[in-house]
Amino acid sequence: MKATARAHTNIALIKYWGKRDEALILPTNNSLSLTLDGFYTTTTVEFREALTKDLFFLNEEPITGDQYERVTAFLDLIRSLKENTYGTIYAEVRSINKVPTAAGFASSASGFAALAAAGTRALGIDMSDAELSRLTRQGSGSACRSIFGGFAEWEKGERADGSDSYAVPIQPQDYWDIRVAAVVLNATMKKVSSRAGMKRTVETSPFFQSWVDSIPQDLEQIKTGIANRDFNQVGRIAEANCLKMHATTLGASPPFSYWHDTTMAVMDTIQQLRDNGVPAYFTIDAGPNVKVLYLPEHEKVVKETLQTIPGVTDVILSKPGRGITYI
Ligand code: PMV
Repeated sequence: MKATARAHTNIALIKYWGKRDEALILPTNNSLSLTLDGFYTTTTVEFREALTKDLFFLNEEPITGDQYERVTAFLDLIRSLKENTYGTIYAEVRSINKVPTAAGFASSASGFAALAAAGTRALGIDMSDAELSRLTRQGSGSACRSIFGGFAEWEKGERADGSDSYAVPIQPQDYWDIRVAAVVLNATMKKVSSRAGMKRTVETSPFFQSWVDSIPQDLEQIKTGIANRDFNQVGRIAEANCLKMHATTLGASPPFSYWHDTTMAVMDTIQQLRDNGVPAYFTIDAGPNVKVLYLPEHEKVVKETLQTIPGVTDVILSKPGRGITYI
């Protein structure tokens, strides 16, 4: 009744931004991501009859409060998949995060993917990758893409029960050596969670529908770019898609933005790098930090340039990562 799994985080090149069902975590648009090798979570789940409640340790620290509640709610979901005649069996969950929270990656992506994989394996529930992705989605939306290595697409699905909403692989880890630099800023600001930010945008931003309408074309073009290993096309679409997502937040009521002045300085620097002939593109999630896409031959110049920007505290480099592994 014990299993260990590892999942890597992913960065969305076409963003998931907006839910059509909050409880089931069903999105309004397809999204597409690259899984990264540098940031991952390793989770051991052990179901034990002697336990009287679930226990959750993150980096060896016992966790309570909201984070604990999300984990136990997800364990309930896993337990509900298994016929059980003798009552609830609780679990001890131990996660080690190799995702520096400061790097601005949602550790929930690798966290819920690893929890879903280890939890189902510990209970002996056999699942296809699609089934595992569908389950993971209900812990954290973007996590459903971390079941797969390389490029993955989360298909939003049409059905109200979410049965057709899960990620599918597009290209594996070793398909293309595209690099991602996570640019860490010393920005402190009031955080609007992705959950709250999406909700406010869906409910109040007049730009939201245009965002949704623009996705099919972005997806088609980025997939063509990936198929042709056309870095400029992939980068151009990813950067534009990110800017469009962030534009929807300015139209919300009340308006909000995830950007900090250093965020804009990084964006500006990347555009200057391109003017100087270095192909590099940025993308930003629901926070102030920036991720920069580049090719291996430009690693040195990209890293050195980013490090000189005032307010940048760290630059962490990553290659494409693998999907779920069991340890
Ligand atoms: O799955 P969540 O709730 O962490 O939302 C992720 C939202 C973005 O990071 C902004 C975009 C994405 O597709 O990952």
